[in-house]
Amino acid sequence: KLKIVTIGGGSSYTPELIEGYINRKDELPIEEIVLVDIEAGKEKLDIVGEMAKRMVKAAGLDWKVTLTLNRKEALKGADFVTTQFRVGLLDARVKDERIPLSHGVLGQETNGAGGIFKAFRTIPVILDIIADMRVQCPDAWLINFTNPAGMVTEAAIKYGGWEKTLGLCNVPIGHCSSAADKLDIPEKDLFFKFAGINHFHWHRVWDKSGKERTSELIDILYGPTQNEDDNHLKNIHSAEFHYEQIQHLNMLPCGYHRYYYIEDEMLNHSIEEFKKGETRAQVVKETEKRLFELYKDPALDYKPEELSQRGGTHYSDAACEIIASIQNDKRTEMVVSTINNGTIIDLPYDSAVEVSGVVTGHGFEPYNWGAFENAGARGDLQSMKGMEETVIEAAISGDYGAALQAFTVNPLIPGGTIAKRLLDEMLYAHKDYLPQF
Ligand code: NAD
Ligand code: G6P
Ligand code: MN
Repeated sequence: KLKIVTIGGGSSYTPELIEGYINRKDELPIEEIVLVDIEAGKEKLDIVGEMAKRMVKAAGLDWKVTLTLNRKEALKGADFVTTQFRVGLLDARVKDERIPLSHGVLGQETNGAGGIFKAFRTIPVILDIIADMRVQCPDAWLINFTNPAGMVTEAAIKYGGWEKTLGLCNVPIGHCSSAADKLDIPEKDLFFKFAGINHFHWHRVWDKSGKERTSELIDILYGPTQNEDDNHLKNIHSAEFHYEQIQHLNMLPCGYHRYYYIEDEMLNHSIEEFKKGETRAQVVKETEKRLFELYKDPALDYKPEELSQRGGTHYSDAACEIIASIQNDKRTEMVVSTINNGTIIDLPYDSAVEVSGVVTGHGFEPYNWGAFENAGARGDLQSMKGMEETVIEAAISGDYGAALQAFTVNPLIPGGTIAKRLLDEMLYAHKDYLPQF
């Protein structure tokens, strides 16, 4: 019988998770689902937690759903711990986006200065959670969704020593279904190979006859007719990549590569949003208000359509499937953030990479990628990883020089005076959540 604990259970995404468990009820012998939050999230936890109970009941299941603010107690005897918390809540994300933009620098949840500060706030908390897990559930799997998911996963394994950590993201799922759709081939008949780091990965695609379909997809999605009309990421402005550059890559970029490959366009668009008071965090605040109004309805016992307005829609296909695959040694093919161990030889052995592989009863077995053939992609990736390693180091040590180094190396932050001024302003704005600095 399984006990699954979710940290950040008051998230508006929780119905998505519950739906994913219900869809896999035959594979998941669940006894108890515990939703954990903090005092500041209690109201949300109560509303969405009651909704979760209704969903389980409507599915005719006897699973116990527990709501609590006591993390330590909650973790006792857990088999799986999933994390989806946001340190500093959406107000902190508003600052992550708006402060850089006020300096004409990109502000985004997981990229640039915003992503770095989200890591600074989050990494100490994940290490605290691991300290509790060591005592309360030493054999549990840690399934991390909390962003920046790659850096949080790397910190959990490298510094927290929690080897049974797996990092997840919904972005690859969207790329797979979009490829199937564009090629008009069932997804199960395509083979996907992803490699890179979270929100900075590329992929290649083959059909079952063995033919590689990557360049054809590049033509369809980014060629002269620009067919990426149904961009699956609700949170990213769908500006057009430059076709010739993607052709030269000869790999499919992820949606987040827009911030790097067409940086100026994305920045200009973000500045427009900033001026209108419509940065993504501000938009999400409104969406969330509407969602919680819906969740309050005692008659609602299924995931509402409105949730698909969030960027993380379908993430339960990753979260719940990975649990089912470990539990049943299903060997489902997935894309996971895991420790590199030589999978990508261009990156350090002990750093996190996001790659394709299979999920077994003993964890994730990645497919070997080897080296990146495209020197531009290799260089970008190595520089991003060096930046991430420095961010993690700073998040743990609170070393100002390391933080400034990370800012200086990040491609979305201009070096020099602006970097330092922005860092200082953000350290001050977020000081309540940065005891290490
Ligand atoms: P949210 O703002 O709704 O936060 C979720 C919950 O976390 C809130 O109820 C909040 O009170 C709680 N929380 C804050 N600090 C906490 C702490 N120290 N311990 C326990 N709970 C705490 O956020 P959201 O929009 O639901 O997103 C949650 C997290 O998941 C974010 O980090 C987000 O970036 C991430 N996310 C990742 C993916 C992915 O692809 N990996 C997809 C969606 C969301
Ligand atoms: C994507 C990413 C997530 C991110 C989310 C933001 O799905 O994979 O990592 O958290 O978008 O969505 P939001 O609706 O919060 O802007
Ligand atoms: Mn993600």
